Amino acid sequence: MLKVNFHPAGRHFLQIPGPSPVPDRILRAISYPTIDHRGPEFGALGLKVLAGIKKIFKTEQPVVIYPASGTGAWEAALTNTLSPGDTVLMFETGHFATLWKKMAESLGIRPEFLGLPGIEGWRRGVQADMIEARLRADAGHAIKAVCVVHNETSTGVTSDIAAVRKAIDAAGHPALLLVDTISGLASADYRHDEWGVDVTVSGSQKGLMLPPGISFNAVSPKAIEASRSARLPRSFWGWDEIIEMNRTGYWPYTPNTNLLYGLSEALDMILEEGLDNVFARHQRLAEACRRAVNAWGLEIQCADPAVYSPVLTGVMMPEGIDADVVRRNIYDRFNMSLGAGLGKVKGRMFRIGHLGDCNDLTLMATIAGCEMGLKISGVPVAASGTVAAMDYLAAHATPLSLKAAA
Ligand SMILES: Cc1ncc(COP(=O)(O)O)c(C=O)c1O
Repeated sequence: MLKVNFHPAGRHFLQIPGPSPVPDRILRAISYPTIDHRGPEFGALGLKVLAGIKKIFKTEQPVVIYPASGTGAWEAALTNTLSPGDTVLMFETGHFATLWKKMAESLGIRPEFLGLPGIEGWRRGVQADMIEARLRADAGHAIKAVCVVHNETSTGVTSDIAAVRKAIDAAGHPALLLVDTISGLASADYRHDEWGVDVTVSGSQKGLMLPPGISFNAVSPKAIEASRSARLPRSFWGWDEIIEMNRTGYWPYTPNTNLLYGLSEALDMILEEGLDNVFARHQRLAEACRRAVNAWGLEIQCADPAVYSPVLTGVMMPEGIDADVVRRNIYDRFNMSLGAGLGKVKGRMFRIGHLGDCNDLTLMATIAGCEMGLKISGVPVAASGTVAAMDYLAAHATPLSLKAAA
């Protein structure tokens, strides 16, 4: 047990796949004085964040912002569009897909859970052909929605949402498409309108670089139409009243004022860097991280290179090694937090987060910390992952002066 007043030197390395480290610029914005949420100043802030967040989702449609964690926005997506007893098709990509399915059950929805055998789905993500086959067999259109996780945070697999849309269209099925990109938004390419998503669920504490506490539903006209006849009980989560009041930049209840200051700052930062540059930075860091894991001679949880996550990398441990012991050693000796294996892969792997406010040297320190921790924990490593990642980053480094001029 650490003494309460013990403060290790330097910053803690928060390398879990969210919450991600909050940049000082955002922390400062969050510390502005709380204002009257019905006053004139607030409306301008509301309108700014409501317009800015649409650019991140790549949508022209409303984005509802809740003062809640991602789980709340999951519930909002289901209760606004579905009725008791409705059947939905969900795909087992990992722990978070499983939790969303459990939520659907507890709300009185009937989820059908498609998946690959064993933990294969936890290594390969959504299989659009299986969704298409199931929808083709549903001639009576009993299935009301298809629900998938875009970036499965428990495994490091980013599924192809455009392919899921194509599968639904190819089957000629009217089901809604509900997508969780809680850990993908603002880190991995995401296109709500172009991919024909009806409800996109996201949260603040990952690519948006904010603390936990706000979450989102981006909604399509078809989803809004569905909400008019959906009968699951909802009050706080109801879109209609919120969207109506959002027209003038206000909410029907007290919104999360200081986190909205933070969101405003985060939007400025992301749009100044450029969304495409943000995605490219994540891809580059993820590639460097995978090179490190390959050099160590360890297996990456994601088994299909086409769906490697740019947000996090899952590192599988050799037989007989408890990944949680490795993580504990790294925390204890190097003041760094890594993500635990969750659900079916508990103790079998750990997760390295490289999302949000992360740069080359953040990643290098993270990989060095992992490599030292692996050695201390008696995990045999074939070669230096630190050197492999360094070599890759040095060979693909863009001068800041060129980035700033772009
Ligand atoms: C993919 C995914 N879905 C849902 C959640 C749940 O969100 P929250 O913990 O913010 O309620 C998380 C949290 O990490 C997540 O990564």
